Amino acid sequence: MSEPTAMDIDSEWPDQLPTTISKGKGKAVVTVEEKGATKENLPWVEKYRPTHLDELISHKDIISTISRFIDENRLPHLLFYGPPGTGKTSTILACARKLYGERYKSMILELNASDERGIDVVREQIKNFASTKKIFSSGFKLIILDEADAMTQVAQNALRRIIEKYTRNVRFCIICNYVGKIIPALQSRCTRFRFAPLKEDQIRTRLDYVIETEGINITEDGRKSLLRLSQGDMRRALNILQATHAAFPIVNEDAVYTCTGSPRPKDITTMASIMFDSDFASAYAAVQRLKTEKGLALSDIITELYNTVMAMELLPSCRVLLLDRMAEIEHRLSTGCTEKIQLAALIGVFRNVVDLTEKLSVQQ
Ligand SMILES: Nc1ncnc2c1ncn2[C@@H]1O[C@H](COP(=O)(O)OP(=O)(O)OP(=O)(O)O)[C@@H](O)[C@H]1O
Ligand SMILES: [Mg+2]
Repeated sequence: MSEPTAMDIDSEWPDQLPTTISKGKGKAVVTVEEKGATKENLPWVEKYRPTHLDELISHKDIISTISRFIDENRLPHLLFYGPPGTGKTSTILACARKLYGERYKSMILELNASDERGIDVVREQIKNFASTKKIFSSGFKLIILDEADAMTQVAQNALRRIIEKYTRNVRFCIICNYVGKIIPALQSRCTRFRFAPLKEDQIRTRLDYVIETEGINITEDGRKSLLRLSQGDMRRALNILQATHAAFPIVNEDAVYTCTGSPRPKDITTMASIMFDSDFASAYAAVQRLKTEKGLALSDIITELYNTVMAMELLPSCRVLLLDRMAEIEHRLSTGCTEKIQLAALIGVFRNVVDLTEKLSVQQ
């Protein structure tokens, strides 16, 4: 028997749950081991995935434009791009429901990064689906190429011709995080929509709904920490909420930060004042000790330090210097440089900024 395709798997959804559905890049992995499992067993990101366009809490302008295309029956090929967890996949699935009704699974072919997507798949699977004439409710079928930035250049090139050839009865929706990785020829065949990170109040509205439905005991500081850590990513907000709720009876600031292992803002403020106020050797020892005690990664410290530095009172040129050097250190860390040396560099930058501040104040 041949391997099931994404469509075969999806077509059983949601009455009979499949054995394994894996979404690419390690995100939103849904594993339901037993058939007959209910929606209750699902991770919240799937349980609360919006099914209709009006359930999506953001990007109203994009949604109304696409709704208009659908109503006027002139949907173009689409290109959705933007950071993770902003509703790209959910939007296109909701569009498919609007287009084809509840039996939409037979009218769409969904391929994501976990499916084999070399040149052969583009040729065979897409061609087979695109060329079949089984069209019921609407004039065209929909092919969703999710996480398309992971597709090879060769496969993307092969798509150019296929898109043109089957435009009569198929619309493509290409979804990716990095639009730069999509070849210009494909971009120019699609109408582009950028999904910006969600705003805090949008995430809050949806979180409040989940909190109420699940009956979660959460404090206001817990809610604030969730919003802070989610950084515009609704999936992250829901995952942290679910993990913290599973591990702690009350979701408060402490529980959220313990669960995610992220640095607490107050620890970062302490580190910042140590780096500003102490000499190099004592600052290095103190920050290193705090870092080990709390089990923090330097890259996480720098991410959180950014907020602290932005909120501090600093001379403009000092802030610019500090941010610029922090960005360099962050980059070096991402390429695998030694944490100890980078920490020393970070403290060195703070010392430079203190010296510069003194020099500039004397001049004024
Ligand atoms: N705009 C939104 N309104 C409501 N829920 C949302 C929205 N965006 C994301 N979510 C929630 O986050 C989860 C992930 O969203 P989705 O899979 O659509 O993100 P995505 O943009 O496709 O991310 P990725 O680029 O990582 O694939 C959804 O299951 C849903 O629960
Ligand atoms: Mg997606």
